[in-house]
Amino acid sequence: MSEIDLAKAVGHQFDDQQVSWNQRDLLIYAVGIGAKADDYSIVNDKSWAPFPTYPVVLMFKGMFCINQDTVNFRQLMSGGKKVSGLPAFDPNRVVHGFQSIEILRPLPAVSGPGWKLKKRIVGVNENKTGIVLEDEQVLVDSNGTPYAKLYSASFNLGAKGTGNSFSKRIAGAPQAKPVPKDRKPDWVVQDRTTPEQAIVYRLSGDYNMLHIDPSIGKAAGFGGVILHGLSTFGFAARALVSAVGGGDPNALRFFGTRFTSPVKPGDALETSVWEVGPGPDGTTEVSFATKNLTNGKACLGGGIAYVKKQEKGRL
Ligand SMILES: *[C@@H]1O[C@H](CO)[C@@H](O)[C@H](O)[C@H]1NC(C)=O
Ligand SMILES: *[C@@H]1O[C@H](CO)[C@@H](O)[C@H](O)[C@H]1NC(C)=O
Repeated sequence: MSEIDLAKAVGHQFDDQQVSWNQRDLLIYAVGIGAKADDYSIVNDKSWAPFPTYPVVLMFKGMFCINQDTVNFRQLMSGGKKVSGLPAFDPNRVVHGFQSIEILRPLPAVSGPGWKLKKRIVGVNENKTGIVLEDEQVLVDSNGTPYAKLYSASFNLGAKGTGNSFSKRIAGAPQAKPVPKDRKPDWVVQDRTTPEQAIVYRLSGDYNMLHIDPSIGKAAGFGGVILHGLSTFGFAARALVSAVGGGDPNALRFFGTRFTSPVKPGDALETSVWEVGPGPDGTTEVSFATKNLTNGKACLGGGIAYVKKQEKGRL
């Protein structure tokens, strides 16, 4: 048993993770995040481009890229070396709290060999309800050129370190500006997940049974299966590309959001988007939120994105 020392874990660099993908993986991902038959720019056409949030799946998919088989989720969760300074966490009590991705260069349709995720812990936060771990992942090609930088926060419910409140962070994503209360959104996009959404999304690498076996979802207190948070994340990213970016996947440069409540496969979603100022490199900064259209409950909150604003192109 090593000593609990949360400060020591901050900055911990994990072993590099080999990753790869091909065009088929990108097409499967597009359907997992709800692409429709007329989403030509991501489901295939002469103007096709990889959807830019794809790298969020690589942490799960990465290690199984060679044999192209499905991922053994249990084995994945129980693997990995323990980080010095941290307590052991219960894999059944982890919730994804936040995810962002900064797109540094457009992804190629096929990775080829030598791509890696470089991952380190950039924040640890303990309070009475548990421990939040924040990590940074940088996707690099075989020359070490970075293509995307991701930040993710996971909340380990009920976890205990020293029992005292603790907070340290050395890097992270920009914070969303609050959505303006005094004006209507500049864009509103409605969409619908299908009852099969989770069984399609999982083909991108997250084979957690929670998303397909209702008895597991019930035991976890969700009343049945819930959709992968990262599928909802992709629905919102598609909404922004379509409304703000004129349907051009390359218009999206940064996208981040908190996961505030689960979505069930079949739920209808509404994403509301406010322009809140200029972003870096000629982009527009927007704040957004996504809710379950049927009962009005927020599922994504604190959304922030930088998008190259464009009129809808002719397809
Ligand atoms: C503890 O941290 C979590 C995650 O940031 C937060 O949702 C919760 O409100 C905090 N609880 C307390 C008691 O501060
Ligand atoms: C979304 O709203 C519908 C209608 O009220 C409801 O049946 C469904 O359970 C809601 N989804 C979640 C995850 O709460």
